[in-house]
Amino acid sequence: MTDPLVKGSIRRRLLLSLLAGAAILAIVVYFVVQSVARQVAQESQDNILTASAQSILESARSFGGQINVDLPYSALSMLDSVSDERAFYSIHLEDEFLSGYPDLPAAPGALAGSPAFRSTEFLGEDVRIASVRRSVSTDMGRRFLQVSVAQTLSGQKLTLARFSRTAMGIGAGFFLLSMLLAAIVARSTIRPLHRLTASVSRRGPNDLRPVAAPVPSEMVPLVSSLNTFMNRLQKSLTRSEDFIAEAAHRVRTPLAIVRTKAEIIQRQADDPEIKVALGEMIHAVDDSSRTAGQLLDHAMVTFRLDNLSSEDINLAQLTHDVVERARPMSELKEIDLDTTILDDTTLHGDPILMQNALHNLLDNALKYAPPGASVDVAVTRTPDGARICIRDTGPGFPTGELPSLPDRFIRGDNAKGIVGSGLGLTIVKEVVEAHGGRMETGNNPGGGACVTLHFPSA
Ligand SMILES: Nc1ncnc2c1ncn2[C@@H]1O[C@H](COP(=O)(O)OP(=O)(O)OP(=O)(O)O)[C@@H](O)[C@H]1O
Ligand SMILES: [Mg+2]
Repeated sequence: MTDPLVKGSIRRRLLLSLLAGAAILAIVVYFVVQSVARQVAQESQDNILTASAQSILESARSFGGQINVDLPYSALSMLDSVSDERAFYSIHLEDEFLSGYPDLPAAPGALAGSPAFRSTEFLGEDVRIASVRRSVSTDMGRRFLQVSVAQTLSGQKLTLARFSRTAMGIGAGFFLLSMLLAAIVARSTIRPLHRLTASVSRRGPNDLRPVAAPVPSEMVPLVSSLNTFMNRLQKSLTRSEDFIAEAAHRVRTPLAIVRTKAEIIQRQADDPEIKVALGEMIHAVDDSSRTAGQLLDHAMVTFRLDNLSSEDINLAQLTHDVVERARPMSELKEIDLDTTILDDTTLHGDPILMQNALHNLLDNALKYAPPGASVDVAVTRTPDGARICIRDTGPGFPTGELPSLPDRFIRGDNAKGIVGSGLGLTIVKEVVEAHGGRMETGNNPGGGACVTLHFPSA
């Protein structure tokens, strides 16, 4: 059998797709965690900056049109409490600088009650600035007082770097967990395929029943085609068996007529040459008839093996019946036929097939052993089942050919001139193996053939 061509692996493809998805998700998780952390950090810093700027703005008082800002201690201390950041502030009355760092830029867009924020560089450091404003009355009318408070970002950057490492750890952990899950998922997805393979390969060579075990919906087309294929194969096998049986039937009847006619003519003929030719013809007809009969039997055996019945078989009784049926033939050939039933044994199986097998072995013994020989059939119980031994005192199997004799249509050298088709031992072997047993062929130490059939217990 040629090995199938392999292209790719479903499991590997599934695993790679799942891992690629997991890697993308892990990267997304990393960036999401990082951006959320940055946002949260910035929001909390913005809140503190606004609170600080607002408290400075609220401390501003207008005295006689002059603006007086009494910088509250809490305004800058709340910034210090965050971390070791540096803080700056500036107070402007519209464009006029009042206090703080004159160069500190304001965050554009601040309105009364709505702060504005800006990230920029101040004195060589990255800072975040919050600007708030409110209107105050001065001797020049109502004007806008604007307070900007800035804080450096170095501490926040360290915190964000720490967050970034944590996010990377979470991403990596997520990916590792996904790898494990992907392996489990890939395995469980492939499992029904393995189950189907196992259930089909566990079957015997003649088991062509449709697959009945439930399968996932994706595998239904495959299993349906498999079932259709097996159904077609089963039908074609049955058709060819029926054909053989029919053909054998049709061949045997005219052959019997030819044989009878040839015998009549042979008896009436005076010419010895014609007598010899007719003898050869009768032998050939017997051979053909036997072959047709054995083919018919083989077709019947194959059919019954496919639908093996399981009845209790009393081995002693069955052996006795087969031997008694062969007795006339043994008497005709003056062969002493004996049965030794040592134990009463019961087997499970098809009695018709067992009879057929035993009959073929007895037929061989009576056919190949010369007149005056003896044949013995012994039934024994063994520790693991039963054994039937058919021994004769004939010439025995041709030892060199022994291994190939159970093959189809193979006959030994000693079968020359003896009617036969080479199917007897094939039938016996198939029947015994279908019953879970085995056939052993060999010769007795003192000469003669010996066939032993071993059967497991019922
Ligand atoms: N008891 C026996 N003694 C000697 N040779 C045997 C014996 N039984 C079988 N053989 C050898 O084994 C061969 C195969 O036996 P098998 O029964 O399969 O075929 P067959 O007897 O030739 O034909 P048939 O199909 O008619 O039985 C025989 O041709 C014969 O050479
Ligand atoms: Mg035979």
